[in-house]
Amino acid sequence: MTQDELKALVGQAALQYVTPGEIVGVGTGSTVNKFIDALDTMKDRIAGTVSSSEASTLRLRALGIPVLETSEVEEIGVYIDGADEIDARGYMVKGGGAALTREKIVAAQSLRFVCIADESKLVTTLGAFPLPVEVIPMAVARLQRQFAGMGGQARVRLKDGVPLVTDNGQHILDVTGLQIGDPLAFESEVNQWPGVVTVGVFAHQKAQVCLLGTPGGVKTLTF
Ligand code: 5RP
Repeated sequence: MTQDELKALVGQAALQYVTPGEIVGVGTGSTVNKFIDALDTMKDRIAGTVSSSEASTLRLRALGIPVLETSEVEEIGVYIDGADEIDARGYMVKGGGAALTREKIVAAQSLRFVCIADESKLVTTLGAFPLPVEVIPMAVARLQRQFAGMGGQARVRLKDGVPLVTDNGQHILDVTGLQIGDPLAFESEVNQWPGVVTVGVFAHQKAQVCLLGTPGGVKTLTF
């Protein structure tokens, strides 16, 4: 089975976590795109969606799936999103699609986080995937030095040769060379550095369920 087929498998499987009548939180990325395509089949039975990025909003609206503002919604039943890495406790690294800040906001508003991923995303220790951190541009040099102090190399993510600008008008640092043994402590520490908007460790907003796509089918991990 190709990676694309594994993503489609978990995107489809995530529908079982969508309760008719509820609002659905929708993440961002190629795996979530498969979920959005699957959600099309039950769009008349949900109360709407809250989206974590302009890209997902466009895809949802193109299919005629209603998208609400977070401010219009008090509570979201379930949040479905992918991950760049997930460990055996449900802690994740996210932000490969640069949508980490809105993803964390929607996740925080949701009762349950269901992560959908192909099996390549399951890791023992977070940190092999370059850690995305959304930052205020004027803080970049200072934050690069702070990450260097903990053994990391932080590079500004580029798009078409210039710094990528997120949906929130900020930049992304991708940090290599880290081994994140205590994701809760790491997230808390980096989040309070001046200039950090959001760190891509999702430990305080971890997944409760992971649907992992494997050649043998969907494996359900609960945390
Ligand atoms: C976007 C994300 C994505 O969930 C993560 O990058 C996984 O993406 P994909 O499903 O394309 O592998 O965090 O900011």
